[in-house]
Amino acid sequence: MSGKKRLILNLFEMNCVSHITHGLWRLPDNNRERFNDIEYWTELAQLLEEGGFDAVFLADVVGTYDVFRGSAATAIREGLQIPNNDPASVVPAMAAVTRHLGFGITFSTTYEPPFAWARRISTLDHLTKGRVGWNIVTSYLPNAARNFGHDGEVEHDNRFEIADEYLDVLYKLWEGSWDDDAIVADREGKVFADPAKIRPIHHEGRYFKVEGPHLPSPSRQRTPVLFTATASAAGTKFAGKHAEVVFTGGPDAASLRRTIAGIREAAVAAGRRADDVRFVTIAGVIVAPTEVEAKAKLARYQELASAEGYLAHANLPWDPTALPPELKLKDAANGDGGVGRWRVFDPEQSVGEFVAGFGDLGRQPLLAVGDPEQVADEIERWLDEVGIDGINLLQYHSHDTARDFIEYVVPVLRERGRLRREYDERETLRERIFGEGDRLPDRHHGTRYRGGAHLPVSGIADPARSHQPGRPPEPIRSHEKEALT
Ligand SMILES: Cc1cc2nc3c(=O)[nH]c(=O)nc-3n(C[C@H](O)[C@H](O)[C@H](O)COP(=O)(O)O)c2cc1C
Repeated sequence: MSGKKRLILNLFEMNCVSHITHGLWRLPDNNRERFNDIEYWTELAQLLEEGGFDAVFLADVVGTYDVFRGSAATAIREGLQIPNNDPASVVPAMAAVTRHLGFGITFSTTYEPPFAWARRISTLDHLTKGRVGWNIVTSYLPNAARNFGHDGEVEHDNRFEIADEYLDVLYKLWEGSWDDDAIVADREGKVFADPAKIRPIHHEGRYFKVEGPHLPSPSRQRTPVLFTATASAAGTKFAGKHAEVVFTGGPDAASLRRTIAGIREAAVAAGRRADDVRFVTIAGVIVAPTEVEAKAKLARYQELASAEGYLAHANLPWDPTALPPELKLKDAANGDGGVGRWRVFDPEQSVGEFVAGFGDLGRQPLLAVGDPEQVADEIERWLDEVGIDGINLLQYHSHDTARDFIEYVVPVLRERGRLRREYDERETLRERIFGEGDRLPDRHHGTRYRGGAHLPVSGIADPARSHQPGRPPEPIRSHEKEALT
């Protein structure tokens, strides 16, 4: 293999019908409505592993899109992320029929407390032998907030403050609560695990109080590979401290470059190396043996793309479809200029153009439509000139998008030294991405609790082995106690 940067290749998925290419579920033979079937996921996982993908990346939301027109009706008609199933539940099925494929699972730090999540992802890391990653999100839907007992969304920067403490609880559980040699499985001595090598965490913070110990034993990676998707100031600081892979979009290559530079800077400020963080972006790839055929395919997809779906997905707080199409935006928007999360406001644009833009598949910043060589050229350009490390492949058609990529693009990228020809037998997802071992590197904040450092108790006292029978056991105090901060 050459010294060229190797592409991280993920498929972008969601446990629903219409994730992010709205209207395209209607394409002939599109499988999206099979997402309730376990076979949908096992067939997909086998296809991706045969094709050499690194991981399947599962997005998630815990509410519905009900801002557009003040109702969830558009989202429901469009199948826009509703119905929607839990992403983590399909991972064991996919893991059982593969040996190497990784899994990126989206989960929010805002609504469910950390202890149960720590346990769930450790279980998945065990079952997959170290193939899981966690996409840390803080959630953005007002309906999600109301589903979990809040009156409205938790304020943006406060969500990142909560997430920061959430991660600290998790590191204590994942990295600090159990020693690697805690399990002795001594049949003669009748000891399965050694209490002195397992400790509660006694976390008491502003948002969480967790005693511990962690219930699962240490998994291959302990901490799953930490992904996050962000671009804000609070999110950049958070990513610099915690994220190993940042999944980022943005309207164009220039903004993506700025995001990458900002997060690398934040990583250095957090005591890490600039290249401790990898960057993955969404890629639209439409490939065929010839450019003409690829363009014809894009045109077929475009015919079915639903502007309504994109408008609802963007949580557009006003309804441009109710206005005359020739009206200029500057005369139409209701004073706040708000156009949702993903579109830039151009006051001179007409309402009709604005609406059409929402269903325009050509708007994807990394969009490669062409023959295999042209697509590979474009991906290489983003790797070398924009500075990304990988892609989350957008699906227009399931599973044809993945099949086409595997048939046409994978061989070219392999030929050019951008993709490996085979998997390494025993590697975890972290080892595959970073090549530095299964666990977090020492310079990552999460490792500060290793071996019980910075935790108040170094092990669980065992009355049955105590030298003073009848007296309540003293917890074993940590030699690190003075170092507590
Ligand atoms: C490419 C990409 C994918 C995302 N996927 C999800 C997701 O699956 N679930 C979710 O709740 N948020 C998702 N988000 C939203 C982010 O978690 C975050 O709320 C958003 O990027 C705004 O963050 P910021 O204010 O820190 O920039 C995604 C964002 C981007 C850019």
